[in-house]
Amino acid sequence: CIRLNSVLRATGRALSTTAGKKQRPLAAETSDQHHGTRNNFSDVQSVRHEQARHSVLIGCPARINENKFLKYLSQYGEVASHFFFDSNGTHAVVEFVDLQSVESLLSGTKIPNDEDLFVVPYKSRYIRVKTTEVGQQAASSLTPPPPPQSPPASRVFQLCPLLSALEEQAHVLQDELQLTEESVRLRYLVSSLISDIATAYFPEATVHLYGSSVNSFGKMGCDLDLFLNLEDIKGYKSGKTPSSYSAEFWMRRVSSGRTAQQKILSVIGECIDSFGPGCNEVQKILNARCPLVRFSHQSSGLQCDLTADNKIALRSSELLYIYGNLDHRVRPLVFSLRCWARVHGITSCIPGQWITNFSLTMMVLFFLQKRNPPVIPTLDQLKNLAGKKEKIMVDGNDCTFVGDLNKIKQSANTESLDTLLIEFLEFYGKFDFRTNCIDIRKGIEKNKPEAAALYIQNPFEQTLNISKNVNQSQLQKFVNLTQESAFTLQDQARRSSKNGKPWGLASILQTTSSDKGATTKRNKKVSASERIGSLLDSLKDNGNTGKTEAEH
Ligand code: CTP
Ligand code: MG
Repeated sequence: CIRLNSVLRATGRALSTTAGKKQRPLAAETSDQHHGTRNNFSDVQSVRHEQARHSVLIGCPARINENKFLKYLSQYGEVASHFFFDSNGTHAVVEFVDLQSVESLLSGTKIPNDEDLFVVPYKSRYIRVKTTEVGQQAASSLTPPPPPQSPPASRVFQLCPLLSALEEQAHVLQDELQLTEESVRLRYLVSSLISDIATAYFPEATVHLYGSSVNSFGKMGCDLDLFLNLEDIKGYKSGKTPSSYSAEFWMRRVSSGRTAQQKILSVIGECIDSFGPGCNEVQKILNARCPLVRFSHQSSGLQCDLTADNKIALRSSELLYIYGNLDHRVRPLVFSLRCWARVHGITSCIPGQWITNFSLTMMVLFFLQKRNPPVIPTLDQLKNLAGKKEKIMVDGNDCTFVGDLNKIKQSANTESLDTLLIEFLEFYGKFDFRTNCIDIRKGIEKNKPEAAALYIQNPFEQTLNISKNVNQSQLQKFVNLTQESAFTLQDQARRSSKNGKPWGLASILQTTSSDKGATTKRNKKVSASERIGSLLDSLKDNGNTGKTEAEH
């Protein structure tokens, strides 16, 4: 399989979006993943969801003439944007200007007629376009599956030693690893396809993306976290004339909200398994603290987790998005440290006693709040700036904070990314984890409320520790690594010549023998080729399978 981040490509035409009838340039509206924009989270979400509703996922013949393909589609309406990618075959995401065109295309789409097989006649926006023209050559404008390109991280290694500032290295890393425009569109489209299934039962339900797909810290290959919002079903319109009569639905009663979630997810999981477009490997994990349905979306290569009524996680994604877009240093710092932690086995894609990306991001945010002057405000300060509509309580938890980025004052801190990176490593190299807990709400260390190796207070569910899973030995590994990496960077700062050796980020992204476990006798740094290979493997969020966004 060819990797999605290499093969997903815009077709060169300006991708545009529609809102109602009006076309708006995408860059101005939704450049949420690129270089700290001031777009509010909710605006980005609405534009992205709207784009997805206007889009279809199309399986195409391997060799397709792009012009003829577009001409065929244009009989149903004007195409706003499209791109091709190769993942288990050639696919296209096509966005129409009008919603009506999508319906019209679907009504002109046949139910497959395979002689030997029966089909489940569930119609979705994942279709297949066939052609009777055989052996046609791909038109030059079509993006054919390209030859395998240098995977992103090796380019980082080639570039890093050439760059004169650590800051530039961090930006290269971020540019190479962050979600591409096409990947973002595909994520929203998959969410929209799942929403179509859920709304067959619950027409007022909505499916939202949360986690790293939307919080501005997403890396190619990260999982797709979705949640089914059933909350808004509760609204009703009261009768026009006051009456001693009222009506209510005859609904099944269950013992708890959790039981309701389990029942609903079980049924939706069953539907995804039986006729979810492009979905397979469905697992219902209903006894987890937060019940979920896990599945793989084959054609996009996305690993999806669907939960229900997880509004707090959406608020926490918005909070992270705000921090990521507030100051230009936050995202490159988080990307660099996520990458650093991954290369050294501090984080892992396998659930366990490791520090998670989410916890690590919280640690970075806390550190930035502790700078003098602070780089970012505390959650309580964001709460104080909130307007009336932003006063939000979820299950008794205060999730209030300002959503309008323009209302938040820019930081007076002018420290460079280089300084912040070294200071981060020093800060956690000396942090008193035995006594203190990390709290981004107050931005100050507090005594740990209970014994746990690492205590990071959940900013909204304040009695929860988001890093409860981390054990003492993993924490110690993290502390040792921060000290080691801080020393490496300080040592370089003392020496003027780089002697052609990896330096800056490239040097602390080297794996050492101690990363590979105590049993390994080698004390030397591993060779460059091993290092690159190991970095590449580590960077792939799909872990030991070596799979990327498109490969499942
Ligand atoms: N979350 C939480 N508390 C936790 C774990 C997760 O509130 N203990 C929420 C966070 O909002 C997090 C989201 O669930 O962003 C998704 O969790 P996860 O997929 O583990 O983290 P991501 O931030 O999506 O990072 P990754 O790229 O590793 O998937
Ligand atoms: Mg995630």
